Amino acid sequence: MGAFKFVSMFFLFTPSLSLILCSFFCRADMNKNCSQQCSKSDSFSGESDFKANLKSLLESLAENGPVHNGFYSTSKGESSTQIFGLVQCRGDISANNCGSCIKNSSVFALSECPESRDVVIWFRWCFLRYSTDNFLGILDQTSVAVLNDTNYDDPSLVSDGQSLMSGLASSVPYQSLMFQIAVLEGGVRGKRYGMAQCTRDISGSDCGLCLNAQLDAFRTTIGSKKDWEVYGFNCFMWYHDHQFYFNFSDPTSGSGRTIWSCFGVLMMVLMIL
Ligand SMILES: *[C@@H]1O[C@H](CO)[C@@H](O)[C@H](O)[C@H]1NC(C)=O
Ligand SMILES: *[C@@H]1O[C@H](CO)[C@@H](O)[C@H](O)[C@H]1NC(C)=O
Ligand SMILES: *[C@@H]1O[C@H](CO)[C@@H](O)[C@H](O)[C@H]1NC(C)=O
Ligand SMILES: *[C@@H]1O[C@H](CO)[C@@H](O)[C@H](O)[C@H]1NC(C)=O
Repeated sequence: MGAFKFVSMFFLFTPSLSLILCSFFCRADMNKNCSQQCSKSDSFSGESDFKANLKSLLESLAENGPVHNGFYSTSKGESSTQIFGLVQCRGDISANNCGSCIKNSSVFALSECPESRDVVIWFRWCFLRYSTDNFLGILDQTSVAVLNDTNYDDPSLVSDGQSLMSGLASSVPYQSLMFQIAVLEGGVRGKRYGMAQCTRDISGSDCGLCLNAQLDAFRTTIGSKKDWEVYGFNCFMWYHDHQFYFNFSDPTSGSGRTIWSCFGVLMMVLMIL
């Protein structure tokens, strides 16, 4: 589980927002700010109302996200100063870490994008988005892929790894939290760990569209790599050669299935066929 560097980022679909990227060094098992997008800074009328609404929005998200299994969306204010927001913590993250991650990404948003009305902040453990436009429930396919360009996997595991992730794209929409983990047993070549998630404001069918679009769009860049992550506005995928997530059990299901095995996912695919 050593240090892990992400060196390249690829954007899917030219986003309408102006782009600020940080070059970064991620330890795969730690939280980290990964990327952000801020709309152009502009001064606008009703700015002080907007700032007051934003403050109350961010407080509400940080308070409610952790107690709603990591997802919360709401809006504050009215008409031209109304602001919509959502948070989505990664499904394996504890409520404490979720709350702390939301607070930290709020602080980050206010320091990096102080004059912006459309803001997206990706941390490894949580996702924060707010805007004066109501984006809630509307699928947006903007995504960024993060990977080390030369970190190729064992060629004999590449197609199994791709199947693992396609399996997740098919089954995540049917999970109560739209979050799932899958493990590929590679024998002497080691295990591969996949995880995928959608924000819970979108429908299951949009979740499936979102994940499959990421796999299609980035296939040539991520397809042969052993460590990569894709961050979108509505869905996310992670793939690593070490267990980068916390042990997870679905709080909405009664008994303790800890990790979905590759077998579970394959069964799912076979059942659909
Ligand atoms: C965000 O990440 C960048 C690059 O890794 C780092 O320099 C910066 O200090 C981080 N900021 C915060 C608030 O965590
Ligand atoms: C939030 O920031 C504080 C102070 O930098 C840090 O100690 C804490 O670990 C961060 N929380 C998360 C979840 O990243
Ligand atoms: C990318 O991966 C290669 C192969 O594993 C490694 O040698 C190199 O140090 C990595 N680059 C960075 C910047 O992490
Ligand atoms: C997850 O649980 C297993 C078995 O209980 C343990 O060996 C492992 O260290 C745990 N991993 C994490 C990241 O907590």
